[in-house]
Amino acid sequence: MTDIAHGVTQQALDIVSRLTRAEKIRLTSGKDFWRTEPLDSEGVASFMLTDGPHGLRKQTGDTDHVGLNSSVPATCFPTASALGSTWDADLLEEVGHALGRECRAEEVGVLLGPGLNIKRHPAGGRSFEYFSEDPLVSGKAAAALVRGIQAEGVGACLKHFAANSQETRRMSNDSIVDERTLREIYLTGFEIAVKEAQPWTVMCAYNLVNGVHAGEHRELLTEILRDEWGFDGLVMTDWIATHERPAGIHAGLDLEMPSSAGAWDQRVADAVDAGTLSGEDLDVAAARVITLALKVAAERASRATVDVSAAHDEHHALARRVAAAGATLLTNDGVLPLAPEGRIAVIGAFADKPRFQGGGSALVNPTRLDTVLATLTERIGDAGEVLYAPGYDAATGEATDAQLTDALTAAANADSVVLVVGLPLSYESEGYDRDHLQLPPSHTRLIQALTARHDRVVVVNVGGAPVEMPWADTPNAILQAYLGGQAAGGAITDVLVGDAEPGGRLAESFPVNATDLASHANFATNPLQAQYRENLYVGYRFHDMFSVPARFPFGHGLSYTSFQLGKAKVTGSGTDRTVSVPVTNTGTRAGSTVVQAYVHDVESTLHRPEQELRGFAKLTLEPGQTADAVVTLDERAWAVWDTATHGWVVEAGTFELRLGFSSTDIVAMSTVEINAGGEVTAVPAPASAIATDTEFTALLGRPIPQPTPSFPFHYDSTVADLSATAGGRLVEKALMAQVMKAFGTDPNATDETEQMMQAFMRNMPLRAIAMTSEGKLSLANLDRLIKTLNATALKAKRA
Ligand code: BGC
Repeated sequence: MTDIAHGVTQQALDIVSRLTRAEKIRLTSGKDFWRTEPLDSEGVASFMLTDGPHGLRKQTGDTDHVGLNSSVPATCFPTASALGSTWDADLLEEVGHALGRECRAEEVGVLLGPGLNIKRHPAGGRSFEYFSEDPLVSGKAAAALVRGIQAEGVGACLKHFAANSQETRRMSNDSIVDERTLREIYLTGFEIAVKEAQPWTVMCAYNLVNGVHAGEHRELLTEILRDEWGFDGLVMTDWIATHERPAGIHAGLDLEMPSSAGAWDQRVADAVDAGTLSGEDLDVAAARVITLALKVAAERASRATVDVSAAHDEHHALARRVAAAGATLLTNDGVLPLAPEGRIAVIGAFADKPRFQGGGSALVNPTRLDTVLATLTERIGDAGEVLYAPGYDAATGEATDAQLTDALTAAANADSVVLVVGLPLSYESEGYDRDHLQLPPSHTRLIQALTARHDRVVVVNVGGAPVEMPWADTPNAILQAYLGGQAAGGAITDVLVGDAEPGGRLAESFPVNATDLASHANFATNPLQAQYRENLYVGYRFHDMFSVPARFPFGHGLSYTSFQLGKAKVTGSGTDRTVSVPVTNTGTRAGSTVVQAYVHDVESTLHRPEQELRGFAKLTLEPGQTADAVVTLDERAWAVWDTATHGWVVEAGTFELRLGFSSTDIVAMSTVEINAGGEVTAVPAPASAIATDTEFTALLGRPIPQPTPSFPFHYDSTVADLSATAGGRLVEKALMAQVMKAFGTDPNATDETEQMMQAFMRNMPLRAIAMTSEGKLSLANLDRLIKTLNATALKAKRA
């Protein structure tokens, strides 16, 4: 098969040449919620694409994309924030293989993940589903997972492309971000994963990017993704993200998911007739769907079947190893590892009813579930005793006075206390952002009360994203366990007693206060636009540049042993360098560490972050062992994005290469001279971390766009926006009532899913109502409804 352009095969083009226009249009939209259309006459089978990302969510009954209805049992691996904290590409590739094998066993063609959006602000509702605040860590983690999944003959899907960093009004918010920031921060991770792992598919984001829906963004979907980076797979919509399908196809969007029951078909045909969409664009999209369908079928035919129950045992053990590798020890005065003996008080309902994954489309039905309480009790065995008190309610995070008293009594009778706190499920989910970074008050109260009375208290914090820890100095140790998947309980026990080491290093900074952050001022504040006025200054780039210390810096994580770096050796020429530095385990236990290489540009035409991570190496060493950490750097290590030439440019000059164990723990430094380079056009730096109107205008290179108001109503106005007019309120009430009625009969309904469902529905754009109505509300009727609502409201205003 010959690759014609960006992976479209001649065979697929030949098939397309025999199709009618109607067939091509049908083929470029889903058959149902999770499957593509088959083309029986040509022997092209339908295939399944489903979530993702850290476990398979294959629904066999009722379908949804917000995690409501059940799915087949599958291994729930740690979520991305824990995976990102491992900094371990080999391990993540292993996870990818396991995910791929489970997909194969269930005949799934494409797994919808990994997600690798940048954590612009820790309050992002899907922070648990993303790896890092840094594009290099995100891109490398995603590439490793993609390699593993695809090595099993299953497609991976990079999502959500691009600049998708909040859940508030997620389907119609406009990310306003300057070109340099987009390239250096928000696109680089995708670029790394595309170039290093050639994913079969990419999913476009719901949001707009600088005024254009991500699914209609030709510059993103064709010019950057395909022409520049060489992506040769298929681009699909996020679920019901379509805004104007003909414009999407023109931009390079191949597949609308899920099926919109033909809602757009006539409009696509009309656009071809009118010449606003070329027939060739439609042909290429259809050919890409066929190419992928044939690939899925060929891979399936060439591979043996998977023994699922054997795989589940093996994958559970892997999930346990990975959860320990991502668990990050934030503080430790020596209390850890605990001797597995004596009386240990385990306090906290999450020890028995674990929080191990996040809510929404990534909700996996685990094959089994470890708890800290059961695994620790088993581990201690006859050598001691575990006393347990829940301390709070796992679902609500609230506590009664009696629960607090019981917790204090258990602790008073114990040699050591393991206190498990964290974010209840309702605090973090797809569909909405957090509005603060605090733990539930009852959890903070428990920390205060127990640390005041006991001198051996270990706090285990679970949750997918940073929380503020004003109490951080009071416990004897803090273990950030993230959302460690179905084996998290066992992994936490392993780390607590030292059967495993805490392998994690933070892939995101933990701020002292959310309000410290430059991104805070414009995070989820404006319903219509997200103005990225902090530009490059996200995470450690902000903390290091503006000397606002994080509570725990990027890259931080303690070990049960200690490491020392020797003298770094830098070799290479031009813009290529290899840094090699001896690392010695100077402690008494085996352990791993991550050597991080940051680059500081000594003099630059453009403002640049104080330092940026450009490479890292994870090493596991026996006590006394020394090995070299080797990091290779190419021209991108020194480059900036030049907005005048729209390209990467390296300026000649001196660069500092800073090696260390976190962004603030730099222990070795070398200088690198880059002798030849290009010209960069100056753009004035904002005076502070948050650009003013004038500065933001200069960064954007054009006036700050005015958001399109949601009234008069249009396709992007949401269900919540309808409350702006009397007629709209009636429609809104009817729509919400309908959804909540259907929801009320759902046997799986809980308060958390109801909250998510409400948020999801209120954020839904009007076009999506038509697309999910299964033909009951056509787009033409939606147009009429919108027109009537607008006309009535304007008339009422005039009267
Ligand atoms: C999410 C995607 C997910 C899709 C299918 C969407 O709501 O944004 O990440 O893959 O649903 O469930």
